Amino acid sequence: MKIIEKEIENVLKETAIKLYKTEDFVMPLVQVTTNEKFGDFQTNFAMVNAKNMKKSPVSIANEIKDQIIENNIIEKMEIAGPGFLNIFLQKEYLANKIKNINLGKKYIFDFINTDGDVIIDYSSPNIAKRMHIGHLRSTVIGDSIKRIMKYIGYNVIADNHIGDWGTQFGKLIVGYRKWLNRENYINNPIDELERIYVEFSKFSENDETLEEEARFELKKLHDNDIENTKLWEEFIKLSLEEYDKIYKKLDITFDTYFGESYYHKMMPKIIELLKDKKLAVESEGAQVVFFDEKDKLPPCIVQKKDGAFLYATSDIACIKFRNENYNLNKVIYVTDERQQDHFKQFFKITELLDWKIEKEHIWFGIMRFKDDVFSTRKGNVIRLEELLDEAKSRAKKIVEEKNPNLSEEEKDHIAEVVGTGAVKYADLSQNRMSPVIFEWDKILSFEGNTAPYLQYTYARIQSILRKADELNIIVNGDDNIILETDIEKSLSVQIMLLPNIVIKASESYRPNILADYIFELAKKFNTFYNALPILKENENIMKSRLQIIEATAKVIKESLDLLGIKTVERM
Ligand code: ARG
Repeated sequence: MKIIEKEIENVLKETAIKLYKTEDFVMPLVQVTTNEKFGDFQTNFAMVNAKNMKKSPVSIANEIKDQIIENNIIEKMEIAGPGFLNIFLQKEYLANKIKNINLGKKYIFDFINTDGDVIIDYSSPNIAKRMHIGHLRSTVIGDSIKRIMKYIGYNVIADNHIGDWGTQFGKLIVGYRKWLNRENYINNPIDELERIYVEFSKFSENDETLEEEARFELKKLHDNDIENTKLWEEFIKLSLEEYDKIYKKLDITFDTYFGESYYHKMMPKIIELLKDKKLAVESEGAQVVFFDEKDKLPPCIVQKKDGAFLYATSDIACIKFRNENYNLNKVIYVTDERQQDHFKQFFKITELLDWKIEKEHIWFGIMRFKDDVFSTRKGNVIRLEELLDEAKSRAKKIVEEKNPNLSEEEKDHIAEVVGTGAVKYADLSQNRMSPVIFEWDKILSFEGNTAPYLQYTYARIQSILRKADELNIIVNGDDNIILETDIEKSLSVQIMLLPNIVIKASESYRPNILADYIFELAKKFNTFYNALPILKENENIMKSRLQIIEATAKVIKESLDLLGIKTVERM
């Protein structure tokens, strides 16, 4: 199925070619109007091209309006202001599109170059540490970007770049042998590993030999010592099992789990290369890349005095590996804002090496909690599992109130979908660059720009469709879609904006554009629902309206899915 804006644009373009015998004009996007009185879409084609064509905008607009090529899309046009063209669409055309949506037809994005692989590097927690709220945001935002890009047709590879190679392992191995509480370790491995890590820091304040011991164990690990390697593998396995529980709850999957350690063997060569190219130079025993003053970047250490490699070194090795082993379209990294300098430094180094790789650091602001339970924890380290459980139990209370007659099992399922959806939506509906304040009452509200509001709108439509079914009202593809009122028309147009919104969200890596769209769609549906009867109407209108709301529900579900949010059939 073609995208509505593209089809309209095409009619304008063909008309202009016929009129002016040239293809040399700027094609501005057609935009949906903010007020139905001014038509369905609007374009400033005449204004942007006036200078080039040496004509006044109003005369261009008039010529296009009067000599529009034959088509079955545009009904009429009007000129507004200094040369805007207001475009009114044919009702038949819109009706047909709604039918196609109900038939499950997919949009075609063949004008976008989706060649090659897109690697999205997100979530990426550090082994033996609990995922913090930054990892939640990276996980949820990365997953949504993945869904959005897949929808357009990119081949996306989701890579969890876990932090499984760092100085923490020396300390953990020492702590494990000295202070491990086996029972805790079995029941809650990450908790226990975090505890022994803290113990280590505490004891090493008064005991210098501990640090030495940790360095020694780390060195042994790096030299493939059997015992230490076994422990390291165990820490990874147990940590991943814990993370997987959260991923499962969040309905998140990855294609690969290459952690930092995967690139370790490749790092000595990176240092050689950087030295060869005179990019890395020795400074106080370490290998350091200094940048040009105009880059305004702090120097980047790539190898420490003791020979250890750093975070930047692993990312340089990693992107080289990706470039050599995939047919890269681009690499996208999703982390919090505090890593901006790291990515600028390492991106700059790849440019200095003349590696032509498309890459993007997608960063986001920090999320904070207004509610006491979570804000009291130090450093914003919260238990994500606890957060999701809390969301579910709060959602459950609401479901109990609204729908006490449902079975316990169904209530539980709804609470899970609504709770998790609310948490994800609270994150995704915000501009990712601004800080997010997390407030339970707000995110779980059934009113306003929240997941429960959108999910409820979907469920409400399903309940109308069920009722129609019970009344034996059977709608089929031959039944007309009438679009009598402005309200119906405006809802129908909104339904069709999805693909263009997805493109915008993908180009700017901003799922919140999609969230705004779904919110607008739900509001338009609710206006429709409050103003226009459905099942009480005569058969023709009823069947027409049933088709419109069915398409609305389909699009709500499809777009919530792009945010990784599920729907339920009743709430
Ligand atoms: N493990 C890192 C952290 O928790 C995030 C890794 C992001 N990805 C990357 N290729 N650097 O902060």
